[in-house]
Amino acid sequence: MSKIAILEIDGNKFELPVIVGSENEAAVDISKLRDISGVITLDPGYKNSGSCKSEITFLDGELGILRYRGYSIEELAEKSHFLEVSYLIIFGELPSVERLEQFENDIRKFTLVSEEMKIILDGFPRTAHPMGVLSALTSALTAFNPKSVDADNEKDMYDAVCKTIAKFLVIATWTYRKSMGYPLNYYDNTIGYVENFMNLMFKLPTGPYTANPIIIDALDKLFILHADHEQNCSTSTVRMVGSSHAGLFASISAGVSALWGPLHGGANQAVLEMLEEIHATGGDADKYLAKAKDKNDPFRLMGFGHRVYKNFDPRAKIIKKAADEVLATLGVNDPILEIAKKLEVSALEDEYFKSRNLYPNVDFYSGIIYRALGIPTDMFTVLFAIGRLPGWIAQWKEMRENKEPIGRPRQIYTGYPLREYVKS
Ligand code: CMC
Repeated sequence: MSKIAILEIDGNKFELPVIVGSENEAAVDISKLRDISGVITLDPGYKNSGSCKSEITFLDGELGILRYRGYSIEELAEKSHFLEVSYLIIFGELPSVERLEQFENDIRKFTLVSEEMKIILDGFPRTAHPMGVLSALTSALTAFNPKSVDADNEKDMYDAVCKTIAKFLVIATWTYRKSMGYPLNYYDNTIGYVENFMNLMFKLPTGPYTANPIIIDALDKLFILHADHEQNCSTSTVRMVGSSHAGLFASISAGVSALWGPLHGGANQAVLEMLEEIHATGGDADKYLAKAKDKNDPFRLMGFGHRVYKNFDPRAKIIKKAADEVLATLGVNDPILEIAKKLEVSALEDEYFKSRNLYPNVDFYSGIIYRALGIPTDMFTVLFAIGRLPGWIAQWKEMRENKEPIGRPRQIYTGYPLREYVKS
């Protein structure tokens, strides 16, 4: 039986349908509220508003559950690999062995990036942050692929998916090569996607390079953990930009910019910088904990807290375990890690953090593991973007296929009423 909610305003009652999702989450459908009552709802930061129906990712922040297309993140991180998970997220089902092989081959068809993109890259100063460059280069891909994707045409959409996955990895690594003044590398179609990431980043023309398989495995797992996270800030941005029927590259470029901020994906870099600062100033983690609790101090403990997880972030649990294993295998002994552990223990026991349900999030541990893997700090958020790419694509595709209307929130105006212009 369908449920309804009743809203009473000034003695007038309005009936609103209640929508229930496949995991029994309920939402009051207010899409007709203004038409029937004249009022709108106000929810800055969308803390309590669903923006869409989606079949891609299920997340229960209270129970610490994360699933892609019904599969638990724990199982996928253990048994699957990044391109298989990408296929699952984007197309809805795990591929057969043959389908996956075809998908990987189809991605390889698009791995060559136009030489003219190098001229654009050349225009940036070497000191530019890789995320700014990545956002610009992603947008520039539109110029080299001007035909906009027909989201209703399966073949067109499929090609766009393969093209985006192929080219994004290459340009993401070029942002690092540029910052180092190194020659740009090309994708090697004879090796895997994550191995290519390592080659594109670190291979030099002066000698042979073989990426460490432990590092490749760890990165693959990290990409899986980042692959989608339902309607987070960058994904909502991708859907919002795409809702105007802007193209896939333009929408993803906007997603990269949204991810860059330190309250979102930029937190992984901010965590490391915070830990380095604690280390450089004598290693007093408690001092920083006190700063984070001080309401007169804008400092926040980076890598702690989450809009939806009010329990341990399940991704953080997996990364913490992976970080311990990788660090032990690689024989890394890092004082920064000791500070991170101390900070974690103190925060988890602290009343301020406990009462607000502030747990370490995915970015707290990812920065530590990236550092151990030899990834430069400026590139941490770029790695997040590479991992999140299938999620952005899947959400864009779903939004277009569901024929969602253009995203256009309303507001409550609080400025001046009508004033008369008086010439000064
Ligand atoms: N350090 C200290 N206090 C905090 C922190 C923190 N990291 N996070 C939240 N709080 C406090 C906040 O001051 C507020 O206290 P009070 O109720 O006394 O005013 C309370 O906890 C609730 O915080 P909020 O800002 O209302 O929560 P939010 O849902 O708007 O923000 C957040 C979520 C992730 C932006 C925030 O927790 C934060 O800034 N964390 C640090 C940045 C970070 O690690 N971001 C990565 C998020 S995970 C990766 C991703 O998916 O993007």
